[in-house]
Amino acid sequence: MKILSIESSCDETCAAVVEDGRKILSNVVASQIETHALYGGVVPEIASRAHSEAIYGVCEKALSDASLTMDDIDAVAVTNCPGLIGALLVGVNFAKSLAYAYNKPLIPVHHIKAHISAIYTVYNGEDGTKKLEPPFAALVASGGHTSLIGVDSYTDFRILGVTRDDAAGECFDKVARLLGFPYPGGAKMDAATYDGNNKAYKFSDAHVKDCPLDFSFSGLKTSAVNALHTAEQKGEEINREDFASSFTEAVVHAITSRIKILFESEGFTSKKLVIAGGVAANSHLRTALTSLCEKYGVELYLPPKKLCGDNGVMTGAQAYYEYMAVPEDKRTEAFSNLALNAYATKDCDKK
Ligand code: KG4
Ligand code: ZN
Repeated sequence: MKILSIESSCDETCAAVVEDGRKILSNVVASQIETHALYGGVVPEIASRAHSEAIYGVCEKALSDASLTMDDIDAVAVTNCPGLIGALLVGVNFAKSLAYAYNKPLIPVHHIKAHISAIYTVYNGEDGTKKLEPPFAALVASGGHTSLIGVDSYTDFRILGVTRDDAAGECFDKVARLLGFPYPGGAKMDAATYDGNNKAYKFSDAHVKDCPLDFSFSGLKTSAVNALHTAEQKGEEINREDFASSFTEAVVHAITSRIKILFESEGFTSKKLVIAGGVAANSHLRTALTSLCEKYGVELYLPPKKLCGDNGVMTGAQAYYEYMAVPEDKRTEAFSNLALNAYATKDCDKK
């Protein structure tokens, strides 16, 4: 089954063709980073307009890169939540038009579930790779989310731990911006850490009472912001690389300490961990989780960096399993909703 999948939840216009949820036939990402960098962050209105301009060309390229036309496509999939509402609406409306014009099923996809599912195209059992199947645990860390999720089946997801305030990526971006790294700062700050001392500055990790798997990053972010402002007021110089390195160490520690608790819990029987989302590209997080998993005898499934950030492949992978989860005789009705809407919040199951 070949699915043309569209993702426009934030600042990248993406389309891909994915076969049977596992095989990437094309993957096109039009980034708006340069436009938003001027403002130091994503401007939602500008993002929506840029999606409108790019979406036709991106979808056309996804088809031509796969040497396919719409006649070869079995279904259209689209991220419809969560994300920037204006940005999501561009993808949703374009997908609805395609589905209507070509009489194809329309599959709505949840962005966080999709981030996790990108991994199925990597560990797909081909070319000597393992074939990853649920159950497993997943860490999703991106600009808007930080969660530990129990993936019980391809379509059953359970929140094990979640951030009570800011997301890890948001903290990286904020601190990177104050340190003078251009937007989006996460990746640039990651590179700079190699010239710094990760013990030069101290940051404290906040824990949520009685919820050992929950995260809280706002205290960490505020203490970094305050340290930078205080230094500025006193005219003291901050070593940018040392600060970036120490802050990264604190975020990585906050994440790995929760995962360690998960590994030690009785319920963690799958012994498999997937990491996903933009922050999964962080080199220190990848190294730290590799050694933690080795220590606990857990299989770690790392996506390549290009599948960590937003892309259409992840949407197409999850869409396939959403489609397959519905009995064959119910699919026409389930996947023909041309009144499909977009939702900014993650609770998109509630209409
Ligand atoms: O998943 P994603 O592309 O978009 C969202 O759904 O939010 O994640 C983007 C986030 C940004 O906050 C970005 O700074 C962060 O991922 N990021 C990184 C790295 N690469 C991207 N954070 C830390 N280290 C990196 N290497
Ligand atoms: Zn994302």
